[in-house]
Amino acid sequence: MSDNKVTVLDIQQAKEDGRKLVMVTAYDYPLGLLADEAGMDIVLVGDSLGMVVLGMDGTVEVTMEHMIHHIQAVVRGCKAPLIVGDMPFMSYNISVEEAVRNAGRLVKEGGCEVVKLEGGVDFAPTIEAIVKAGIPVMGHIGLTPQTASAMGGFKIQGKDATAAKQIIDDAKAIEDAGCFSIILEAVPAPLGKLISETVTVPVIGIGAGPDVDGQVLVIHDVVGLYDRFVPKFVKQYANVKNVMLDALVDYKREVADAKFPGPKNSFKMPDEALEQLKKMIKE
Ligand code: KIV
Repeated sequence: MSDNKVTVLDIQQAKEDGRKLVMVTAYDYPLGLLADEAGMDIVLVGDSLGMVVLGMDGTVEVTMEHMIHHIQAVVRGCKAPLIVGDMPFMSYNISVEEAVRNAGRLVKEGGCEVVKLEGGVDFAPTIEAIVKAGIPVMGHIGLTPQTASAMGGFKIQGKDATAAKQIIDDAKAIEDAGCFSIILEAVPAPLGKLISETVTVPVIGIGAGPDVDGQVLVIHDVVGLYDRFVPKFVKQYANVKNVMLDALVDYKREVADAKFPGPKNSFKMPDEALEQLKKMIKE
């Protein structure tokens, strides 16, 4: 473990100190290295990998095997940030026992330090059991993408008082169950603020406004690498897709025009050896 390894206690301390937490997703070794070098507090190997890496329409099809494979790759590159492994759909929904077993697999086989799962009041017993087994849990409430179809799609949550009150109840229930922090997705900014003030654990927002304890975004959205679906709450800080596309188009043109590889990218052979070889071929 490196000296500057971020721990669950550091995450909790940040809220007490009023320091905003910065979290991003990563799905493989190079992205893990980048997130580490950029000084992220937390790196989430999110099941969003189903969409931005595996080309699925949502996160429902993502399996435990996908998650373990990608967590392992991120862990190899990402040393200082706290690494969170997302529990895929149906890995924690069937029984508490299965949830504990699968949380254990993400930590033991994947190598992440903590797990994240979606759900509020109904999932409090599951969270309690995983925490009791010694695995820290990050909650995820508000818009929960794994069950988005039951919510009528990827829509903002908690817009009226009754729906907002339910999300506050969810936050309190999963805090009481032992979550060390909570992801709050796609809710009105004033509700984000209220929830952050209501619970003592850090609330990390994604589309929850500025008055929460930290922010998380999908790395492909931050760098501009995935444009199939860009939610309103995303800010793209670069357009890496265009940079990569320009490079590929240039490469294609140079090969077609016989400009690549040039002398700089080719290996030499002594003239003598070449002459000898030509003679050998003729014989
Ligand atoms: O899977 C994911 O990337 C997430 C974030 C959007 C928080 O759950």
